[in-house]
Amino acid sequence: MPATMITVSKDKVFALSNSKFSYVFRASPEGILEHLHYGGPLSDPLNVVSHHIRTQREVASTFQGGRYFNLSDTPQEYPSFGTSDYRFPAVHGRNADGNTVFSLTYKSYSIVKDKPRLKKLPSARGGDSETLIITLHDPLHKLEVDLLYTIYQDYGVLARSARFKNKGEQEIQIQHAFSSALDLPQADYEIMHMHGTWAREFNVERIDVPKSRFVVDSARGTSSAAHSPFIALMEKGTTEDHGRIYATTLVYSGNFAMSVERGEFEDVRVLAGINPFNFHWRLKPSKTFCTPEALHVFAPNGLRNMSHLWHDFIREKISPPQFKNIARPTYLNTWEAAYFDVNEDKVLTLADKALEIGVDMLVLDDGWFEGRRDDTSSLGDWRADKDRFASGIPALAAKIKAKGLKFGIWFEPEMVNPKSQLYQDHPDWILHVPGRTPSLGRNQLTLDLSRDEVIDYLFGQIDDILSCGDIDYVKWDMNRNMTEVGSAGQSRNRQREVSHRYMIGLYKLLKKLTKKYPHILFENCASGGNRFDLGMLSYMPQGWISDMCDPIGRLSIIGGASYIYPLDVMAAYIGPSPNHQNGRISSVQTRFLAGVFTAARGVSLSEAEIEAHKDEIIHFMKLAKDTADDMIGGRFNRLILNHNEVCWQYISADNSTVYVAYFHILSAPNLPFRRAYLTGLDPHCEYMLVEDGSRYRGDALMHNGMPMPYVSTGHVRENTRYMAKGDFSSHLFIFKKAAP
Ligand code: DGJ
Repeated sequence: MPATMITVSKDKVFALSNSKFSYVFRASPEGILEHLHYGGPLSDPLNVVSHHIRTQREVASTFQGGRYFNLSDTPQEYPSFGTSDYRFPAVHGRNADGNTVFSLTYKSYSIVKDKPRLKKLPSARGGDSETLIITLHDPLHKLEVDLLYTIYQDYGVLARSARFKNKGEQEIQIQHAFSSALDLPQADYEIMHMHGTWAREFNVERIDVPKSRFVVDSARGTSSAAHSPFIALMEKGTTEDHGRIYATTLVYSGNFAMSVERGEFEDVRVLAGINPFNFHWRLKPSKTFCTPEALHVFAPNGLRNMSHLWHDFIREKISPPQFKNIARPTYLNTWEAAYFDVNEDKVLTLADKALEIGVDMLVLDDGWFEGRRDDTSSLGDWRADKDRFASGIPALAAKIKAKGLKFGIWFEPEMVNPKSQLYQDHPDWILHVPGRTPSLGRNQLTLDLSRDEVIDYLFGQIDDILSCGDIDYVKWDMNRNMTEVGSAGQSRNRQREVSHRYMIGLYKLLKKLTKKYPHILFENCASGGNRFDLGMLSYMPQGWISDMCDPIGRLSIIGGASYIYPLDVMAAYIGPSPNHQNGRISSVQTRFLAGVFTAARGVSLSEAEIEAHKDEIIHFMKLAKDTADDMIGGRFNRLILNHNEVCWQYISADNSTVYVAYFHILSAPNLPFRRAYLTGLDPHCEYMLVEDGSRYRGDALMHNGMPMPYVSTGHVRENTRYMAKGDFSSHLFIFKKAAP
């Protein structure tokens, strides 16, 4: 293990430092954990200057009698409410006497090599890491809180979480249990966050930090497409390659909240963790409660730098390691090819089509189980429909494998339709509140995954199918937000724990299944990207990022998600045209290229649609197969983004191939000439453009740029690279690096 990354001074200054950042705080004489520095790496981090001045503030109250020391202008590591800080606190609750004032002060610390995994929750893996554990205590409430900080040798990510321990004889009720708080100094910041809805996920919004509190959150039971669990606080005017950024995300898939608050003295507090709204945890004596993990990135050089830090970390420390360097199979998915109208013959015919177009896998999506002919019935009854799949799934899987294809299947395990055997047998297994009619979403109800018997049932049903041994892939869907969140399995006074207990149950089920079937490629889906987060991606190597298969719609979704997630964890297929979500007509090429840098690519087209464009589809599926290795572990960059153009670059992990995809959205006459400045190339090497053998030096491509094809509505001349006339044009450049 190289030099230690965590140092502590005699007067209780704590520093976490690697080559990418330093994070420093101290225990003040009053015992408050006072934040000192988060930013670029410091060579002597224990000697940072505190920018906090002890001064008399009019109106402010002094902390526990300390002269000129009040908490409302003190940057803190884990603030509470009621003792002179009026900003939103990281921790809040109530003790058995009804007292809601908490005051956590420093008690002790320890340093552990590597990283403890969180109990019952997914968290980033360790390896070349160290963890600082600070114990705070509130002697009055007999509450202890461990703050865990993990730093890695090679990553720009700091992992944080909090662990609550009731050391007393009385119950403590916890209402706020944020995973981390970050009090940053006054500066001209902007917030970047992502919002959306079904089929329009990952829209990026940038706003100035208001002089108040800004919150993104979810109370839907999933992390949701409405707000991604992500916030970046950026130097105003940050671009792809300029600007300091502090970004935060969570390894959690349920109700979360992230807030940015500019206090009265202009410093900025970022909180991240479980949404305190409608949350309440009863911590019995001697019991422990762990928050989900928050991840923080400091990026000194703009959004590209930030994305690279996230991508490297997610690939190495979050994604299931057994798929790390594994090229993803190309596939034909039955959903937009046939929807619910599937049967064994049709699936076998589509499997033959899959072979003809050269893909690796047939995925049987929704519609294969007992009585499922539309979305009104059968969720919960995970047995093959006897009429349409008479020989059963294991036999079908074997037939498909015998053709030389892999076989994948769809489940939506967390749901049940009222019209199902499962619901008839166990009506109390759903999330519900006595006396209220449960709201339906897509005609379905949510199973109560806070109950062990439900987890056991689901494991049994899924295991029955997977144990045939011929399943290579599972699409794990989840198609509604939660309502009437209550559980017959929990006592009256624990009902506000149900949302979080649901997540614990879900993670338990996923852990058990993925442990038993480590070779099965699980794909996370929730009506597309309604639960696309690092909690789910801890168990599943890839996710269906959106139901929006129109390429123009998809560009902004993939582009938005790429700020955080590497494209290795995304799946995208060529869907039908006219598109089923927005009616747009586009070429096979543009439909393929919009997802060309995602790791998992394929088609979801009917027999007729395949026949109509067979040669092109064969061409692009061959390209997908030929580039499948490259689309794992490489470097993705956004080069151009404006209202009418997108240009992305991708460099394979071995640096041998550079791909540039250019999209021109709406055609117009007399357009300007455009060029893209490539990035991350070897300046002294030559790069050969595969389409015509022309050669360019790396420095020229980066500093002089590459001309983008011209969309001409008029005359086409020789020696100019044109794209198809009209709207939604695209072009893929492939450069091969020549030996130096
Ligand atoms: C929603 C998913 O996002 C789709 O891809 C498809 O699997 C349907 N559910 C099936 O019901």
